[in-house]
Amino acid sequence: MGELRGTHVPVLLERCLELLAPALGRTGRTVHVDATLGLAGHAEAVLEAHPNTVLIGLDRDTEALAHARTRLARFADRIHLEHAVYDELPEVLDRLGYPAIDGVLFDLGVSSLQLDAPDRGFAYAQDAPLDMRMDQTRGVTAEEVVNTYSHPELARVLRVYGEEKFAGRIASAIIRERERARITSSARLAELVRESIPAPARRTGGHPAKRTFQALRIEVNRELAALETALPAALDKLTVGGRMVVLSYHSLEDRLTKQALADRVRSKGPVDLPVELPGSGPTFRLLSRGAELPGEAEVAANPRAASVRLRAAERLDPEAARQGRTDRERYRRRVKAMHQPGTGSPGSGEGPGAAPGDGTDEEGEGT
Ligand SMILES: C[S@@+](CC[C@H](N)C(=O)[O-])C[C@H]1O[C@@H](n2cnc3c(N)ncnc32)[C@H](O)[C@@H]1O
Repeated sequence: MGELRGTHVPVLLERCLELLAPALGRTGRTVHVDATLGLAGHAEAVLEAHPNTVLIGLDRDTEALAHARTRLARFADRIHLEHAVYDELPEVLDRLGYPAIDGVLFDLGVSSLQLDAPDRGFAYAQDAPLDMRMDQTRGVTAEEVVNTYSHPELARVLRVYGEEKFAGRIASAIIRERERARITSSARLAELVRESIPAPARRTGGHPAKRTFQALRIEVNRELAALETALPAALDKLTVGGRMVVLSYHSLEDRLTKQALADRVRSKGPVDLPVELPGSGPTFRLLSRGAELPGEAEVAANPRAASVRLRAAERLDPEAARQGRTDRERYRRRVKAMHQPGTGSPGSGEGPGAAPGDGTDEEGEGT
């Protein structure tokens, strides 16, 4: 097993540690799930920072798991490394006997191990068989997708998962080419895509094949379907005070994350009711304002961080959430009273910018 430690820089590592610390640093044993273990950069830092934390690391890539196992060998008595897709998290936790968790990290997308491997077909920049499976033990390859999907199916994959404007043209070129000869290499596919995109458009937006390769990777690995199930399942498993951090690398992942969190941080009760009805209050508060972006220094040191978007949330104590609602309602009434003639006092000390008891940051528009 080669030593890969130096080749992968964990993205937004300090920020992830800072966000997870209040949950994982609590007294007694805490449980952290790294849902996308990869080369275990984040996982290693978590285990070093929190000697009482048990780590459950998931990855669908057996090669990544093998590297992670070597890297984390010195923590062997408090790690469980599992070959699983992250939407299998509830079953994994049941099997291991952990009913709840204190922290969970999703660092989505491909690892540098996958991207740099000459034989896995993820990269348009080097020639390789068109595989793109993160789990090479099962599932269909990109070669099968490219050579068997109909024109409408291919165009949909490229348009939806790659946000590719020229999806129809690229799909037509693929169909024409495969009638001539089966498409088996990433270089041939990248070339076909380049030829299908009009010359002026080729000059903007990075490598012309970038969006097509992203789309095929998402399709081959059913990435968005797994994420859509995994995020709510992981949120459900968090203890009160437990925290989730998600690092997304494209807008589709970030949108799913934003939606999963938005669903938990909103009250579902009637707006005018002074108290929260049981079960209708927010169950989480956001720890990030909108999507957090990397700083310039991070991007300079680690170009793979350039497209990252971080979102994080913490599970609320249901009683505190109910109380928060009551405080907010009192506050609203006070502000309303201030604007009615003869009542209230404009100098009451609390400006309308910060509602007391409002445990959540305002959700900014995701970028
Ligand atoms: C960006 S890397 C993680 C890097 C890791 N945080 C580190 O510091 O080394 C993403 C990893 O998640 C894995 N992965 C992606 N989708 C997955 C899924 N649905 N289930 C399990 N693992 C997944 C990939 O195989 C890859 O190894």
